[in-house]
Amino acid sequence: MFKQHFFTLSNGNKIPAPSTIGTGSIYYKKNEKDYNPHLTEYLIKCFKDLKGIVHIDSAACYNTYPEVADALKENFEKGYKTRDEIWYTDKFDSKGGKDSDPITHVNETLKKLNLEYFDLYLIHHPSVSEKIDKDIVGVWKDFITLFEQGKVKNIGVSNFSAKDIDNLVEKAGFKPVVNQIEWNPFLFNQSPEIYSYCQKNDIVIEAYGPLSPLVSQLNGSDTSKEGKDFKNYLDELASKYKVSNSVILLAYTIDMNVLPVTTSTKFYRIEDAHNFINDHPELKLTKEEINKITALGLNHPTARRYRGWTDHYNEFESESQKLKI
Ligand SMILES: NC(=O)c1ccc[n+]([C@@H]2O[C@H](COP(=O)([O-])OP(=O)(O)OC[C@H]3O[C@@H](n4cnc5c(N)ncnc54)[C@H](OP(=O)(O)O)[C@@H]3O)[C@@H](O)[C@H]2O)c1
Repeated sequence: MFKQHFFTLSNGNKIPAPSTIGTGSIYYKKNEKDYNPHLTEYLIKCFKDLKGIVHIDSAACYNTYPEVADALKENFEKGYKTRDEIWYTDKFDSKGGKDSDPITHVNETLKKLNLEYFDLYLIHHPSVSEKIDKDIVGVWKDFITLFEQGKVKNIGVSNFSAKDIDNLVEKAGFKPVVNQIEWNPFLFNQSPEIYSYCQKNDIVIEAYGPLSPLVSQLNGSDTSKEGKDFKNYLDELASKYKVSNSVILLAYTIDMNVLPVTTSTKFYRIEDAHNFINDHPELKLTKEEINKITALGLNHPTARRYRGWTDHYNEFESESQKLKI
């Protein structure tokens, strides 16, 4: 029987890890009209061929609802996965102001996707567009209402600093269960100890961009010695455990108690991430290996792939905030 890996949220609910099919980044589109049949086809293939739970990471601003809707429709018609075998995360476009408020967004999107609830709903960004007639606390209060109505099973945030989270908890008395941030070993020193803050406060960190250290090697944007040393070590572990270097980096992320949110245009990579992380107990990095990956990551200068989007973290960068090992 397939062994599904879960993280436990502070409310006791279990969230499957990793998320292997993000519908943003490489699948992001400027508008919904430019339909991408490749994404629909991949989602359907995931429903059909992946064992266990398929964890989809979606958002209003990715403009990919038409593809997600078509894939879900075909899935339920063909009977590949039941609703319980799909974990669907969505995000409110707080920064871009695509929808006026979370309640309208959720009601309209559930209708579009023909779903009864989202498994997880996140505020995409701590800043709020002028197009939205509420401040961040007002947005969060709508999230609490949606949670109480059962339209979203869990609520959380994305790209929040510790200060941003404290503000919500203080003013609305309800703690997010997840903070989805850009996270990988080259970003240990972002925000004042956001990693330790979330671990200490029992908030699951979801990492987007978990593979950035490899992506930047592959596309040639990182030619540093530190970047090469890092990749060489992942390659060494990849041959030891007979998996790809990206699977090693995802396994490391999970070992650091962080839930990776990845994606790919290649089905074998989605499948590898899903199968190796979930069902291969032999892929267990040793404490020394984990510490060495951390040390090599700390050696590398901070390298944010999503610059412009998360620049608010820059004010916190300093040597003193680096993770201690
Ligand atoms: N909350 C937010 O603000 C936010 C921001 C950004 C992203 N996200 C979410 O997170 C998801 C994933 O983000 P991401 O794309 O940055 O994740 P990622 O896992 O760091 O990067 C995915 C990329 O890695 C490449 N890759 C996979 N294996 C590789 C390897 N062995 N060597 C080199 N490259 C490799 C893939 O290329 P191939 O296609 O060639 O396999 C793919 O383009 C998004 O789809 C979105 O849902 C959220």
